[in-house]
Amino acid sequence: MVLYDGVEPNPTLASVNAAYELYCQTGCGGIISLGGGSAHDCAKAVGILATNPAPLARYVGVNQFPNESAPVITVNTTAGTASEITNCFLITDTDTNVKLIFEGVNALANVAIDDPELMLTLPKGLTAATGMDALTHAIECYVSNLSFKLTNELALIAIRYIFRSLATAVQEPGNLEARDDMVYGQYMAGMAFGNGGVGIVHAAAHALGGTYNLPHGLCNAILLPHVMRFNMKASAKRYAHMYYTIHPDTAAALSDEDAANAFIKAVEELSAAIGTKIPLHELGVQECDFELLADKALKDSCCETNPIFPAKNDIILILKAAF
Ligand SMILES: NC(=O)c1ccc[n+]([C@@H]2O[C@H](COP(=O)([O-])OP(=O)(O)OC[C@H]3O[C@@H](n4cnc5c(N)ncnc54)[C@H](O)[C@@H]3O)[C@@H](O)[C@H]2O)c1
Ligand SMILES: [Fe+2]
Repeated sequence: MVLYDGVEPNPTLASVNAAYELYCQTGCGGIISLGGGSAHDCAKAVGILATNPAPLARYVGVNQFPNESAPVITVNTTAGTASEITNCFLITDTDTNVKLIFEGVNALANVAIDDPELMLTLPKGLTAATGMDALTHAIECYVSNLSFKLTNELALIAIRYIFRSLATAVQEPGNLEARDDMVYGQYMAGMAFGNGGVGIVHAAAHALGGTYNLPHGLCNAILLPHVMRFNMKASAKRYAHMYYTIHPDTAAALSDEDAANAFIKAVEELSAAIGTKIPLHELGVQECDFELLADKALKDSCCETNPIFPAKNDIILILKAAF
């Protein structure tokens, strides 16, 4: 067994190529990734390179790699991305500062291990950001125009577990029950969005992550309430369903619009309570880059499953609101 420990958060084509070189030089026959979404995405990319001709970038898009990946086992340590079970991986092209999205059944790991004990060491900030990523998967998937009965049920389960335990997991990192809820919630959210897609939050978060190398979950957490407000005219009823899921007692008392607004408020309050409600300018995001960020987000395939396809100015207004 040989160790490659060069995977950085938001993994790059360079780190995938370095890992693949080691894989070839040492005659590996499979990959075990230990870590969060970055480790799994890098491992999935190497698995695809091992069975499909280089360069990796030629396979951007859906089902572009013809051959099944080399064997991959994902051992997950964040709750989170659910990359350990999804059929996609994201790799940053540092020449263009764009996160390339690769998707296809051939990229699925053979075995995924989700053990909450491996998450007890995840610090508060990372627990918060990765947990908000999982919540974003569930919320965006529930309103996605690709959602269907199965993804709806999975997303609602995820939302219940994440609302129940994310704040506790952040405040008490050693609380195994909260970690268990979070790993289950992120897994359900992963099965949901892996089949039903996400939306503008992810498209814009990919643009921010590619441009400034910012944590994926944190970008999602910051953008989520603003995109929800933008989606209100198409998705109020669906946001209301999600609110009734976390507060079943209110179902008879509130109009759908009031419940939808209450849900957006609940998301914002959770984010504030766990420290992910941060203005974008505090992360080094520059207003002069909004045009570029909006152009990148519009080209991201995640926009296609958002309930309303945005105009460039819509994305700029969302970024301004989050600034
Ligand atoms: N393929 C997919 O389905 C999918 C979905 C969403 C996001 N992503 C991608 O996943 C990446 C983000 O992954 P992530 O949010 O899991 O974070 P990550 O994998 O980038 O890890 C963040 C940091 O946490 C540390 N860490 C991980 N587990 C730890 C633990 N148990 N204890 C202490 N430290 C730990 C890592 O070393 C790293 O420094 C992004 O590149 C994003 O685009 C992929
Ligand atoms: Fe995500």
